[in-house]
Amino acid sequence: MKNVIITIDGPAGTGKSTVAREVAARLGYTYLDTGALYRAAAVAIEDAQVNIYDDETCGMIVSNTDIVLLNDRITINGKDVTSEIRANHISEVASKIASHPSVRKALLAIQRSFGQQYSLVAEGRDTGSVVFPDAQVKIFLSASETERANRRYNELVARKTAISYEQVLDEVIKRDQRDTSRKISPLVVAEHAIVVDTTQLDINGVVNKVVEITRDRLADQ
Ligand code: DC
Repeated sequence: MKNVIITIDGPAGTGKSTVAREVAARLGYTYLDTGALYRAAAVAIEDAQVNIYDDETCGMIVSNTDIVLLNDRITINGKDVTSEIRANHISEVASKIASHPSVRKALLAIQRSFGQQYSLVAEGRDTGSVVFPDAQVKIFLSASETERANRRYNELVARKTAISYEQVLDEVIKRDQRDTSRKISPLVVAEHAIVVDTTQLDINGVVNKVVEITRDRLADQ
């Protein structure tokens, strides 16, 4: 039987990761955090001390790095970078190197190989539009800029990062701009995707909504 693919895309701070993980657990599917792959690629590029604005060099490094994502742990060439990829400066580097076509191409194959092996809840920016255009269920999560900055700020404070709310808001706005305006695979609402505004919803509310949409969509197919 064909694997079921559910894609959840949207900007940072919409709760995508938490929602996708929980929806996957409820449905018994595998959770694929595609952002973790971009973050791991950012760490590999940073470790190599090359120009992060050079598409070809960055692509070559990512192609030559063994990135393994398994059971919530991620390694690059055998080194565990699960915590390191969540550092605030890696969010910035990841967003920059994600605009390079050669980096996206190198990570595409890894993402699609998950879809060949498992029924998935895949989460990211282009999982419904580019990675899995034939996914049976596509969701786009949105929330206001200020609400997303607030969530991100609380997350960073909980991790004892010294940062102001204004700086977080500024980073959220700049990251949105980069993610939506890049030439290749920009953040867009994929064709046939259902938009869920999470501004007024808690995580459980969003999860219930996504599971409901999924059951309806799968029943129709
Ligand atoms: O979802 P996240 O914040 O962990 O993603 C980190 C960066 O990776 C983000 O700035 C955009 C990029 N990304 C992407 O371009 N495409 C994806 N499918 C997932 C993430």
